[in-house]
Amino acid sequence: MRVAILISGGGSNMVRLVETMQAEGYATPVLVASNDAAAAGLDKAARMGVPTAAIDHRPFGRDRAAFEAELLKPILAARPDVVCLAGFMRVLTPEFVTRFAGRMLNIHPSLLPKYPGLHTHQRALEAGDAEAGCTVHEVTPVLDDGPILGQARVAILPDDTPETLAARVLTREHLLYPEVLRRFTRGERIRIEL
Ligand code: GRF
Repeated sequence: MRVAILISGGGSNMVRLVETMQAEGYATPVLVASNDAAAAGLDKAARMGVPTAAIDHRPFGRDRAAFEAELLKPILAARPDVVCLAGFMRVLTPEFVTRFAGRMLNIHPSLLPKYPGLHTHQRALEAGDAEAGCTVHEVTPVLDDGPILGQARVAILPDDTPETLAARVLTREHLLYPEVLRRFTRGERIRIEL
């Protein structure tokens, strides 16, 4: 299985996915692409021997289709079987998503269906929730809405801030995403709870 990973920033989830693929051989990382040439994850991917590409979304303004047409070029050239969004912060058009229907995953830092969108930890704290967490789901045209493949839960502590909570959730993301991708590449679609 060939796996392409899309990032926008540090790429800590991407690093874990690449590490587990390279260590266990359950799939092959064939591309790490970003919408930001300055994304620190690109250097990390290159150092791990994974081909990279950067397509700056800014010159395209609000023309998502034009940006995606450029982004598609290195992705299609890499011939991925699976596309993983990992800290990728651009909303993709239904046309782009539909092209990878059933084989595009995303990790989102909340227990979906709670808190789709941004500022998930702040919202969980403001709601007084007892727990937070992360979700890996199949990407569909509706943002943060596709079939859930796995979740990991984290207890919210009395003195948590969005930053302390995000840090604890991120460590669980790093366990959840590889576990879900491992199973996904084996054709498993059962939902897992970590
Ligand atoms: C993480 O909070 C992840 O849940 C979200 O993007 C953030 C950064 O992820 N999708 P990464 O370190 O770039 O993988």
